[in-house]
Amino acid sequence: MAYKILVLKGDGIGPEVVGEALQVLKTVAREAAIDLEFRDGVIGGHAIDAHGTPLPDEVLKHAQDADAILLGAVGGPKWDNPNANQRPEQALLGLRKALGLFANLRPVRAVKELLGSSPLKPDLVSGVDLVVIRELTGGIYYGQPSEKRRGKEGREAVDTCFYNEHEIARVLRFGFELARERRKKLTSVDKANVMSSSRLWREVALELSNEYKDIAFESQLVDSMAMHLIRRPKDFDVIVTENMFGDILTDEASVLAGSMGLLPSASLGEELNSAGFRVGLFEPIHGSAPDIAGRDEANPLGAILSAAMLLEHSLGLRAEAELITQAVDAVLKEGHRTRDLGGAGTKFIGCKAMGRLVREKLEAAES
Ligand code: IPM
Ligand code: MG
Repeated sequence: MAYKILVLKGDGIGPEVVGEALQVLKTVAREAAIDLEFRDGVIGGHAIDAHGTPLPDEVLKHAQDADAILLGAVGGPKWDNPNANQRPEQALLGLRKALGLFANLRPVRAVKELLGSSPLKPDLVSGVDLVVIRELTGGIYYGQPSEKRRGKEGREAVDTCFYNEHEIARVLRFGFELARERRKKLTSVDKANVMSSSRLWREVALELSNEYKDIAFESQLVDSMAMHLIRRPKDFDVIVTENMFGDILTDEASVLAGSMGLLPSASLGEELNSAGFRVGLFEPIHGSAPDIAGRDEANPLGAILSAAMLLEHSLGLRAEAELITQAVDAVLKEGHRTRDLGGAGTKFIGCKAMGRLVREKLEAAES
């Protein structure tokens, strides 16, 4: 039986990077004799242009029917009007909510060969290996009311940060379970000195930590966490936090890896797929980078590593995922660089060449 993979390339550099990631997936599937069936869908700005909506019903139906989804990026200057009724980002938010993808995993690993690409001192970054788990279907991203309106004193606007204990506990539990497979340390991040939703978050986290006595547990306030993350990043293993804090901290954490172009992500829910693993949406954490779109300059490694996460988390193919990670490491070790990775005196290669090099490593490893 074939596994159904929905491919949503999106806008900007999305099609280029996903194109390479897809070829890598196909290479691994061929070598490992796994049957993957791919289906394409249009989302984001392209979908607004073609169908008048960023997330057409048909695409959502295919997403609900898929074993896993591989996504590029959405958005671009053409659809940037913040007052527009239809915005590309709504496709992402809609998919996350509709599929119940509450746990967003963003691993950050310092690659030895790229230590020089980080603006931080190499000895501070060397050895960093952490995962941020960002709650993805609640908080201020979805709370109601959320609107701009007319009030007594002119224009006013409101957003609502809502969490119930079930939402908090399930993502924290996910984190504790993951910490068990890693270095057994969990940091829960909140703003409990100011926000009610954070005080509930902290209470639930503390209660749960009693069930996981084998895990070293701590709570941190998000403002000091922003500082700790760049001052002593090696101290962290699994970091769990609410939706918006996670959005902000993961952009910051990407600096540790050297380039945002390298970082993959997995968004997982409770639902299991036909492989018996969690249905997931996998995407690089970078955006659509319209300024370099179509120029074969983008770094496909974030998308390629997202494909590796797809194999691991939605299909249970950990060994195959590891092969991809090793191939990426090997290519970087040989000194190949896309422009975002910088490096004085480096001759940069393009998106296609980078993808090809990773595939060649995979083919060499198999034969
Ligand atoms: C991310 C992005 C999205 C988010 C945007 C594009 C809506 O920044 O995935 O981190 O805020 O969740
Ligand atoms: Mg973000």
